[in-house]
Amino acid sequence: MNLSRRGFLKYATASGLGIGLGATRIAKLYAGASAASRPLSVVGNRLGIPPTFSGETMVAAVGTQTVWPGSSSDVWTFGGSYPAPTIRAKHGEEFRVRLVNNLLEPTNIHWHGLTVPAAMDGYPRDVAGPGGTFEYAFTVAQRAGTYWYHPHPDMRTGPQVYMGMAGFLIVEDDEERALDLPGGNFDIPLMLQDRRLTPERTLAYDLRDEDHLEGYLGDVMLANGMPDAYLDVEAGLYRFRILNGSNSRVLDLALSDASPMLLIGTDGGLLDRPYEVGYIYLAPAERVDVLIDFSRFAIGQTVTLKSLAFSGGSGRVQGTEMSVIRFDVARPASSQRTVPAVLATYERLDPVSAVRTRKFTLRIDHTSTPEGHTINDLKFDMARIDERVEAGTTEIWVFENVSFLHHPMHIHGVQFQVLKRSLTPKLEPRDLGWKDTVYVRPYEVVEVLVRFPESPGVFLVHCHNLEHEDHGMMLNFEITAGSSGVSGGSAVLPERMKLE
Ligand code: C2O
Ligand code: CU
Ligand code: CU
Repeated sequence: MNLSRRGFLKYATASGLGIGLGATRIAKLYAGASAASRPLSVVGNRLGIPPTFSGETMVAAVGTQTVWPGSSSDVWTFGGSYPAPTIRAKHGEEFRVRLVNNLLEPTNIHWHGLTVPAAMDGYPRDVAGPGGTFEYAFTVAQRAGTYWYHPHPDMRTGPQVYMGMAGFLIVEDDEERALDLPGGNFDIPLMLQDRRLTPERTLAYDLRDEDHLEGYLGDVMLANGMPDAYLDVEAGLYRFRILNGSNSRVLDLALSDASPMLLIGTDGGLLDRPYEVGYIYLAPAERVDVLIDFSRFAIGQTVTLKSLAFSGGSGRVQGTEMSVIRFDVARPASSQRTVPAVLATYERLDPVSAVRTRKFTLRIDHTSTPEGHTINDLKFDMARIDERVEAGTTEIWVFENVSFLHHPMHIHGVQFQVLKRSLTPKLEPRDLGWKDTVYVRPYEVVEVLVRFPESPGVFLVHCHNLEHEDHGMMLNFEITAGSSGVSGGSAVLPERMKLE
C-alpha cells in the first residue's frame, strides 16, 4: 500500500475523524472543517439507489424532485428520476431503447464506455429534437463493468447532465459472475456529483464567465442525487461502483480513518487482482469499483468517504476537501465473504504494436472571451475531421497538458490502456485495466495505447470537464477502413454527414 503521498499523510495525521464517535460529536468535528466542506448533519439523508430501468422507452423530460430536503427543485430526467434509472445489460446481448424527447431542446444518449457503431454513439448531430425520438440498437460488446449514459448534444451536455440526466449502465458477464463478488444489497452504485446550493435550495445551471476556466464547480457533494448521504451497512464486505458524474470536479477519494480500500475495477471492468489503495483520484467520467470491508468496525461506529484536499494547478476551488457519504456500521454481517485473490484476465496491449504516435496538446485559448480550451489549437467543428485512424490498428495517443487546469480526456468508440505519465514514475492502480477516460493533471503528459475497432465512422475525443467540452475542447477522429492513416487531412465529409 502506498501511503506516501503528501496530502494523504497530512490528512492521516489530522485524522481520527469519524471513527468510533457518536453522531453529535461528528457534527461538531465537521462544523470545524474547512469552509468549503459542508457540515455533515447529525442525521443526514439515507442514500437512495436509482431504480432499475425496464421497458423499451426512455423519456427525457423535466420533472420535480427533492434534492435538498425541505424544498423541491426542477430536475431534467431520463426515465423520470434523478439520477436516471440504472440499465443492467449482459455482455453479448442486443440492447434496444427508444429515446422520447419531451424537453424543449435537442437531446440524445451517449453510452459512455461502450463500443457501439458510430450512428448509435450519441454523436452531437444525432439527436432527437423537441418532441422527437431516436432509436438506439446495438450489441453490448463490453466486458462486465460500470459504464454510464448521458446526453451529448452540441454545446449543451454540461447543463443537461447538471440538471440530472445521467445514469449507470452496468454490464454483467460470466467471468465476473463466477467470482461471487458482493451482489444485491451489497453492490452499491454511487454517482458522485458536486452541486451549488442556491438560496432557493434548487438545482440551477447558471454559467458565468469565470466558470469557463475551471468548469462549473459545486460546493456540496451529492451521492445518488442526495447531499449529506449516509448508508447503514453490515459489518461485512461491500462493493461500491463509484462514478464521478461531476461536470468538472476532480475527486481524491479516501476513508476518514485512513484505512485502505480494495480497488478491483476501473472504467472498462475488473482488474487482474484487488489492489489495496489509500486514496483514489477520480476525475469526471471515470469509474472505479472498490471493495470496502466494514468488518474491522464495531457496531455503532461510523466512517466517512471523503474527497481529500489536494493542491496543484488551478486550485482556486478544485481540490477542496469534501464529505461524500457516511457509512454507519449498524449490524453484524449476515454472511461471510472472502475477497478473491485473482479477479479477471484481460489482454495487455503491447506498445510495440503501435503503428504511430499522435499528440494532442491541451491549451487555454486566451484569444477568446471568456477564455476557452483547445486541443491542438483547434475548437470543435462538427464538419471537420481532425484525425484519421485505420480500423484495427493500435496507436499511442499523447495528451500533453500545457495548462494549469485538470483535463479528464475521453475517447469515444474504444477502451484504451494507460502507458505512462510524466508526473508519476510508476502507474497507480487506478490507471490499470481498460480505460475510456484518463485524468491529465496540470502540466502533465499522459500516453495511452489505443486499438481502434474494425467498424468505421466518426467518433469524438474530448475533455470530460463538461464546460471545457461544451465550449470546444473536442475533436473528431474518423476510423477508416482504408490504409492511409493520414493526420490532419482536408475536411472530406463521410457519407453519414453529407446526408444533412
Ligand atoms: Cu461521457 Cu463524450 O462522453
Ligand atoms: Cu463517451
Ligand atoms: Cu478540460
